[in-house]
Amino acid sequence: MVAVAILAAGRGTRMKSDLPKVLHQLGGRTLVQRVLESCVRLQPSRRLVIVGYGADLVRDSFQQTDTQPTLEFVEQTEQLGTGHAIQQLLPYLKDFTGDLLVLNGDVPLLRPDTLEQLIKIHKENGNGATLLAAHFPNPTGYGRVFCDSHNLVNQIVEDRDCTDAQRQNHRINAGVYCFNWPQLAKILPDLKADNDQQEYYLTDTVNYLDQVMAVDVEDYREILGINSRKDLANSYKVLQDWVKTNYMAAGVTIIDPDSVTIDDTVQLEPDVIIEPQTHLRGNTIIQTGSRIGPGSLIENSQIGKNVTVQFSVVSDSVVADGTRIGPYAHLRGHAKVGEQCRVGNFVELKNTEVGNRTNVAHLSYIGDAQLGNNVNIGAGTITANYDGVKKHRTTIGDRTKTGSNSVLVAPLTLGNDVTVAAGSTITDDVPDDSLVIARERQVIKPGWRLESPE
Ligand code: UD1
Ligand code: CA
Repeated sequence: MVAVAILAAGRGTRMKSDLPKVLHQLGGRTLVQRVLESCVRLQPSRRLVIVGYGADLVRDSFQQTDTQPTLEFVEQTEQLGTGHAIQQLLPYLKDFTGDLLVLNGDVPLLRPDTLEQLIKIHKENGNGATLLAAHFPNPTGYGRVFCDSHNLVNQIVEDRDCTDAQRQNHRINAGVYCFNWPQLAKILPDLKADNDQQEYYLTDTVNYLDQVMAVDVEDYREILGINSRKDLANSYKVLQDWVKTNYMAAGVTIIDPDSVTIDDTVQLEPDVIIEPQTHLRGNTIIQTGSRIGPGSLIENSQIGKNVTVQFSVVSDSVVADGTRIGPYAHLRGHAKVGEQCRVGNFVELKNTEVGNRTNVAHLSYIGDAQLGNNVNIGAGTITANYDGVKKHRTTIGDRTKTGSNSVLVAPLTLGNDVTVAAGSTITDDVPDDSLVIARERQVIKPGWRLESPE
């Protein structure tokens, strides 16, 4: 039986931010959310998050996204150190007899496999505590782990408390521990704050516990901690490197990986091609044969098979098979475009459903509309969907064509097989099979000339 506790009460002074450190985002998810998600596979019996600085913000950040069993929030009103934070759990875990996995809220790249391994080794060896460590090329700022030849930990010394000689040890403490809770609970009240920061250090518990073992991770990058904006950027690079390597191994072409960013929540099918300067975010799915970019941003959208998207932005939208988007299109607010359509050249679609084989090819704003199949929207057609107070809908039937520079004043319905004359401002519904002209007739005055004032 394992319970999980996440340390998320610190401000993160070195971030120079009003936002609590653990709420900074890494590739579309907050640090603390990532840490919590790394534990999902362990199926913990309890999940406790220790909050303090910005407690309400941290609490609220979970409301929309987390679908797991209840999170318990434990308040640490004064942040007197990582050991003090864990002391706050004593009343909550009074009758708990299992192991407690403790994770710093600022170690967002942990892999679930690594945590499973940590717990396995902890149990096999009957340790008082087992912790993750690694040899860092640059260990500055991290606590150093001192072990005997059997990886049993003698002490952990924070960077600022190290002697010059101790600082030569590059083996660092990840801030990820599995504790035998009853053992830990017994010694927690004895922690002292006799260090440079005058804080109660969780790392000092290794001095009192029966047997503490260090487990080195294979790839040190997964235990990189985030203390500064620079760390955030470095970890993002690591994450991107892993994510793109995985997609490429699964059959995705990424022409210029350095110019592309992809969230690890995105799903890409084999034979998708990602062109340079393209960014894929959130819950995006892209199906096989599609070519995205150059210069595009896709977020929380579903892109079908054999779609092309060039120099365009697609948010919260759906695009079906064989459709061409761009250059310079903007789909947003639940636009849904059918198969074999063309949406291009300075066209914005908002909250609009488009049938199959329909084109909106040039210079249009289509909002709150429904377009049928085989519709042709002429260059410069605009839906006037907003009367200053409310939004109204426009419905356009199959095979209908709008002439260039038409204004469709909503609420409005154009039937099937309607033709709208160029330059019309349409304010009334138009029945099937009609031509509609709504503009001033052209007047020619032969021989007319401006009288010159002499
Ligand atoms: C800590 C470890 C260090 C380790 C490093 C790994 C200690 C004393 N040091 O140092 O050995 O190498 O992590 O990244 O534990 N927090 C609270 N309440 C507090 C203080 C901190 O909840 O009173 C939380 C923070 O929000 C953060 C985590 O604990 O998520 C770690 O705190 P931080 O100040 O970043 O510790 P480090 O100095 O990095
Ligand atoms: Ca830290």
